[in-house]
Amino acid sequence: MKRLQDKVVLITGGASGLGAADATLLAREGAKVIVTDISDDAGRAVAKRIGGEFMHHDVTQEADWTRVIAAVLSKHGRLDVLVNNAGICRVGDIETTTLEQYRLMAAVHGESCFIGCQQAVQVMKERGGSIINISSIAALRATPPVLAYAAAKGAIRALSLSVAGHCRDKGYPIRCNAIFPGVIDTPLVVPVVGANFPGAGQPEDVANMVLFLASDESRFVTGAEFVVDNGATARLAA
Ligand SMILES: NC(=O)c1ccc[n+]([C@@H]2O[C@H](COP(=O)([O-])OP(=O)(O)OC[C@H]3O[C@@H](n4cnc5c(N)ncnc54)[C@H](O)[C@@H]3O)[C@@H](O)[C@H]2O)c1
Repeated sequence: MKRLQDKVVLITGGASGLGAADATLLAREGAKVIVTDISDDAGRAVAKRIGGEFMHHDVTQEADWTRVIAAVLSKHGRLDVLVNNAGICRVGDIETTTLEQYRLMAAVHGESCFIGCQQAVQVMKERGGSIINISSIAALRATPPVLAYAAAKGAIRALSLSVAGHCRDKGYPIRCNAIFPGVIDTPLVVPVVGANFPGAGQPEDVANMVLFLASDESRFVTGAEFVVDNGATARLAA
Protein backbone atom coordinates (compact mmCIF):
# COMPACT_ATOMS: atom_id res chain seq x y z
CA MET A 1 0.00 0.00 0.00
CA LYS A 2 1.43 3.38 -0.95
CA ARG A 3 1.60 6.10 1.68
CA LEU A 4 -0.82 8.47 -0.10
CA GLN A 5 -2.95 5.97 -2.00
CA ASP A 6 -5.68 7.91 -3.90
CA LYS A 7 -5.34 11.07 -1.82
CA VAL A 8 -6.26 14.19 -3.81
CA VAL A 9 -3.44 16.69 -3.46
CA LEU A 10 -3.22 20.28 -4.72
CA ILE A 11 0.28 21.78 -4.91
CA THR A 12 0.68 25.46 -5.76
CA GLY A 13 3.84 26.61 -7.52
CA GLY A 14 4.35 23.03 -8.63
CA ALA A 15 6.12 23.88 -11.89
CA SER A 16 9.58 24.23 -10.35
CA GLY A 17 11.83 23.59 -7.38
CA LEU A 18 10.21 22.38 -4.18
CA GLY A 19 6.72 22.16 -5.66
CA ALA A 20 7.87 19.97 -8.55
CA ALA A 21 9.74 17.69 -6.11
CA ASP A 22 6.64 17.47 -3.89
CA ALA A 23 4.50 16.60 -6.91
CA THR A 24 6.91 13.90 -8.03
CA LEU A 25 7.24 12.23 -4.63
CA LEU A 26 3.57 12.44 -3.68
CA ALA A 27 2.48 11.04 -7.05
CA ARG A 28 4.96 8.19 -6.62
CA GLU A 29 3.28 7.44 -3.28
CA GLY A 30 -0.09 7.06 -4.95
CA ALA A 31 -1.58 10.57 -4.72
CA LYS A 32 -3.70 12.15 -7.43
CA VAL A 33 -1.70 15.34 -7.82
CA ILE A 34 -3.00 18.61 -9.20
CA VAL A 35 -0.09 20.92 -10.00
CA THR A 36 -0.92 24.60 -10.26
CA ASP A 37 1.27 27.55 -11.24
CA ILE A 38 1.46 30.73 -13.31
CA SER A 39 4.21 29.08 -15.34
CA ASP A 40 2.01 27.04 -17.67
CA ASP A 41 4.49 25.19 -19.89
CA ALA A 42 6.71 24.05 -17.01
CA GLY A 43 3.66 23.14 -14.91
CA ARG A 44 2.17 21.06 -17.71
CA ALA A 45 5.50 19.29 -18.17
CA VAL A 46 5.66 18.33 -14.48
CA ALA A 47 2.05 17.12 -14.52
CA LYS A 48 2.64 15.04 -17.63
CA ARG A 49 5.81 13.48 -16.20
CA ILE A 50 4.11 12.40 -12.95
CA GLY A 51 0.75 11.41 -14.46
CA GLY A 52 -1.04 14.30 -12.72
CA GLU A 53 -3.05 17.32 -13.83
CA PHE A 54 -2.13 20.95 -14.36
CA MET A 55 -4.20 24.09 -13.85
CA HIS A 56 -3.22 27.69 -14.35
CA HIS A 57 -3.48 29.39 -10.97
CA ASP A 58 -2.20 32.74 -9.75
CA VAL A 59 -2.28 32.29 -5.97
CA THR A 60 -2.71 36.03 -5.39
CA GLN A 61 -6.10 35.91 -7.15
CA GLU A 62 -9.06 34.76 -5.08
CA ALA A 63 -11.08 34.02 -8.22
CA ASP A 64 -8.33 31.65 -9.40
CA TRP A 65 -8.51 29.77 -6.09
CA THR A 66 -12.29 29.49 -6.38
CA ARG A 67 -12.06 28.17 -9.94
CA VAL A 68 -9.29 25.66 -9.15
CA ILE A 69 -10.90 24.26 -5.99
CA ALA A 70 -14.28 23.97 -7.75
CA ALA A 71 -12.62 22.06 -10.60
CA VAL A 72 -10.88 19.70 -8.14
CA LEU A 73 -14.16 19.01 -6.32
CA SER A 74 -16.04 18.54 -9.55
CA LYS A 75 -13.52 15.99 -10.88
CA HIS A 76 -12.44 14.21 -7.67
CA GLY A 77 -15.23 14.94 -5.19
CA ARG A 78 -12.84 16.04 -2.48
CA LEU A 79 -9.53 17.69 -1.58
CA ASP A 80 -7.40 15.80 0.93
CA VAL A 81 -4.16 17.81 0.94
CA LEU A 82 -3.26 21.40 0.09
CA VAL A 83 0.41 22.40 -0.18
CA ASN A 84 0.72 26.20 -0.14
CA ASN A 85 4.10 26.34 -1.82
CA ALA A 86 4.11 29.02 -4.55
CA GLY A 87 6.55 31.81 -3.90
CA ILE A 88 9.02 34.38 -5.12
CA CYS A 89 11.89 36.13 -3.41
CA ARG A 90 13.20 39.66 -3.91
CA VAL A 91 16.30 41.18 -2.39
CA GLY A 92 15.90 44.34 -0.30
CA ASP A 93 16.61 45.49 3.26
CA ILE A 94 14.80 47.98 5.49
CA GLU A 95 16.43 50.91 3.68
CA THR A 96 16.01 49.73 0.09
CA THR A 97 12.65 47.90 0.05
CA THR A 98 9.79 49.91 -1.47
CA LEU A 99 6.24 49.66 -0.19
CA GLU A 100 5.28 48.18 -3.54
CA GLN A 101 7.87 45.41 -3.13
CA TYR A 102 6.75 44.79 0.44
CA ARG A 103 3.14 44.47 -0.67
CA LEU A 104 4.08 42.07 -3.47
CA MET A 105 5.76 39.71 -0.99
CA ALA A 106 2.78 39.97 1.35
CA ALA A 107 0.40 39.14 -1.50
CA VAL A 108 2.30 36.17 -2.93
CA HIS A 109 3.00 34.58 0.44
CA GLY A 110 0.77 35.67 3.34
CA GLU A 111 -2.37 36.64 1.42
CA SER A 112 -2.27 33.66 -0.92
CA CYS A 113 -1.83 31.33 2.02
CA PHE A 114 -4.79 33.00 3.74
CA ILE A 115 -7.05 32.51 0.73
CA GLY A 116 -5.88 28.93 0.23
CA CYS A 117 -6.38 28.01 3.87
CA GLN A 118 -9.79 29.68 3.98
CA GLN A 119 -11.06 27.79 0.94
CA ALA A 120 -9.44 24.51 1.99
CA VAL A 121 -11.05 24.64 5.44
CA GLN A 122 -14.44 25.08 3.80
CA VAL A 123 -14.05 22.01 1.62
CA MET A 124 -12.19 19.82 4.14
CA LYS A 125 -14.12 20.40 7.32
CA GLU A 126 -16.50 17.48 6.92
CA ARG A 127 -14.19 14.70 5.78
CA GLY A 128 -10.84 16.10 6.93
CA GLY A 129 -7.56 17.01 5.34
CA SER A 130 -4.03 18.26 5.71
CA ILE A 131 -2.86 21.79 4.93
CA ILE A 132 0.90 22.24 4.56
CA ASN A 133 2.23 25.79 4.41
CA ILE A 134 5.76 26.44 3.16
CA SER A 135 7.32 29.21 5.22
CA SER A 136 11.11 29.66 5.50
CA ILE A 137 13.84 29.90 8.10
CA ALA A 138 13.78 33.57 7.11
CA ALA A 139 10.74 33.74 9.42
CA LEU A 140 12.77 32.38 12.34
CA ARG A 141 15.94 34.41 12.33
CA ALA A 142 17.26 37.78 11.16
CA THR A 143 17.60 37.89 7.38
CA PRO A 144 18.21 41.61 6.67
CA PRO A 145 18.79 41.30 2.88
CA VAL A 146 15.31 39.83 2.25
CA LEU A 147 13.25 41.84 4.70
CA ALA A 148 9.90 41.75 2.89
CA TYR A 149 10.23 38.05 2.10
CA ALA A 150 11.04 37.28 5.74
CA ALA A 151 8.08 39.32 6.99
CA ALA A 152 5.73 37.59 4.55
CA LYS A 153 7.02 34.18 5.65
CA GLY A 154 6.46 35.24 9.27
CA ALA A 155 2.83 35.88 8.40
CA ILE A 156 2.56 32.30 7.11
CA ARG A 157 3.94 31.02 10.41
CA ALA A 158 1.31 32.87 12.47
CA LEU A 159 -1.46 32.04 10.02
CA SER A 160 -0.67 28.33 10.20
CA LEU A 161 -0.93 28.29 13.98
CA SER A 162 -4.26 30.10 13.94
CA VAL A 163 -5.71 27.80 11.28
CA ALA A 164 -4.60 24.72 13.23
CA GLY A 165 -6.02 26.11 16.48
CA HIS A 166 -9.32 27.04 14.85
CA CYS A 167 -9.80 23.59 13.34
CA ARG A 168 -8.98 21.93 16.64
CA ASP A 169 -11.39 24.21 18.54
CA LYS A 170 -14.16 23.52 16.05
CA GLY A 171 -13.53 19.79 15.96
CA TYR A 172 -12.74 19.84 12.24
CA PRO A 173 -10.52 16.90 11.30
CA ILE A 174 -8.11 19.22 9.50
CA ARG A 175 -4.44 19.42 10.32
CA CYS A 176 -2.39 22.51 9.44
CA ASN A 177 1.38 22.56 9.74
CA ALA A 178 4.22 24.76 8.53
CA ILE A 179 7.60 23.83 7.07
CA PHE A 180 10.63 26.10 7.36
CA PRO A 181 13.20 25.18 4.71
CA GLY A 182 16.74 26.48 4.82
CA VAL A 183 18.60 27.26 1.60
CA ILE A 184 17.49 24.72 -0.99
CA ASP A 185 18.97 24.47 -4.46
CA THR A 186 16.25 26.00 -6.68
CA PRO A 187 16.03 29.00 -9.05
CA LEU A 188 14.43 31.08 -6.26
CA VAL A 189 17.58 31.45 -4.18
CA VAL A 190 20.03 32.34 -6.97
CA PRO A 191 19.43 36.13 -6.77
CA VAL A 192 19.84 35.93 -2.98
CA VAL A 193 22.80 33.60 -2.36
CA GLY A 194 24.10 33.01 -5.90
CA ALA A 195 24.29 29.71 -7.76
CA ASN A 196 25.84 26.60 -6.16
CA PHE A 197 25.46 27.85 -2.58
CA PRO A 198 27.63 25.53 -0.45
CA GLY A 199 25.60 23.27 1.80
CA ALA A 200 22.27 23.94 0.10
CA GLY A 201 19.69 21.21 0.48
CA GLN A 202 17.85 19.51 -2.34
CA PRO A 203 14.13 19.92 -3.08
CA GLU A 204 13.62 16.25 -2.15
CA ASP A 205 14.75 17.05 1.42
CA VAL A 206 11.66 19.22 1.84
CA ALA A 207 9.44 16.91 -0.21
CA ASN A 208 10.05 14.10 2.29
CA MET A 209 8.67 16.29 5.08
CA VAL A 210 5.69 17.25 2.90
CA LEU A 211 5.06 13.55 2.29
CA PHE A 212 4.98 12.81 6.02
CA LEU A 213 2.59 15.70 6.73
CA ALA A 214 0.37 14.75 3.78
CA SER A 215 0.13 11.13 4.92
CA ASP A 216 -1.93 9.64 7.73
CA GLU A 217 1.34 8.90 9.55
CA SER A 218 1.12 12.49 10.83
CA ARG A 219 -2.50 12.13 12.02
CA PHE A 220 -1.60 13.41 15.54
CA VAL A 221 0.42 16.36 14.22
CA THR A 222 -1.12 19.81 13.80
CA GLY A 223 -0.10 23.37 14.61
CA ALA A 224 3.50 22.19 14.41
CA GLU A 225 6.59 23.71 12.86
CA PHE A 226 9.20 21.71 10.98
CA VAL A 227 12.61 23.18 10.24
CA VAL A 228 14.39 21.50 7.31
CA ASP A 229 17.77 23.27 7.20
CA ASN A 230 20.48 20.82 8.23
CA GLY A 231 20.84 22.67 11.54
CA ALA A 232 21.55 26.13 10.12
CA THR A 233 19.02 27.85 12.39
CA ALA A 234 20.10 25.97 15.48
CA ARG A 235 23.72 26.87 14.81
CA LEU A 236 22.99 30.59 14.57
CA ALA A 237 20.81 30.55 17.65
CA ALA A 238 23.52 28.99 19.82
N1 LIG B 1 14.60 27.41 -2.25
C1 LIG B 1 14.77 27.78 -0.99
O1 LIG B 1 15.89 27.90 -0.50
C2 LIG B 1 13.58 28.04 -0.11
C3 LIG B 1 13.80 28.22 1.26
C4 LIG B 1 12.72 28.47 2.09
C5 LIG B 1 11.45 28.54 1.56
N2 LIG B 1 11.26 28.37 0.22
C6 LIG B 1 9.91 28.48 -0.28
O2 LIG B 1 9.59 27.33 -1.02
C7 LIG B 1 8.57 27.64 -1.97
C8 LIG B 1 8.98 27.13 -3.33
O3 LIG B 1 10.13 27.85 -3.75
P1 LIG B 1 11.25 27.24 -4.73
O4 LIG B 1 12.53 27.42 -4.05
O5 LIG B 1 10.82 25.91 -5.19
O6 LIG B 1 11.20 28.31 -5.91
P2 LIG B 1 10.98 28.15 -7.48
O7 LIG B 1 11.21 29.50 -8.04
O8 LIG B 1 11.78 27.01 -8.01
O9 LIG B 1 9.44 27.74 -7.60
C9 LIG B 1 8.42 28.62 -7.21
C10 LIG B 1 7.22 28.41 -8.12
O10 LIG B 1 6.18 29.28 -7.67
C11 LIG B 1 5.56 29.83 -8.84
N3 LIG B 1 4.89 31.08 -8.52
C12 LIG B 1 5.44 32.29 -8.25
N4 LIG B 1 4.48 33.20 -8.06
C13 LIG B 1 3.30 32.56 -8.22
C14 LIG B 1 1.95 32.97 -8.16
N5 LIG B 1 1.61 34.25 -7.91
N6 LIG B 1 0.99 32.06 -8.35
C15 LIG B 1 1.32 30.75 -8.60
N7 LIG B 1 2.57 30.31 -8.70
C16 LIG B 1 3.55 31.21 -8.52
C17 LIG B 1 6.70 29.99 -9.83
O11 LIG B 1 6.22 30.12 -11.17
C18 LIG B 1 7.52 28.75 -9.59
O12 LIG B 1 7.13 27.68 -10.42
C19 LIG B 1 8.40 29.17 -1.90
O13 LIG B 1 7.31 29.48 -1.09
C20 LIG B 1 9.69 29.61 -1.26
O14 LIG B 1 9.56 30.85 -0.62
C21 LIG B 1 12.29 28.12 -0.63
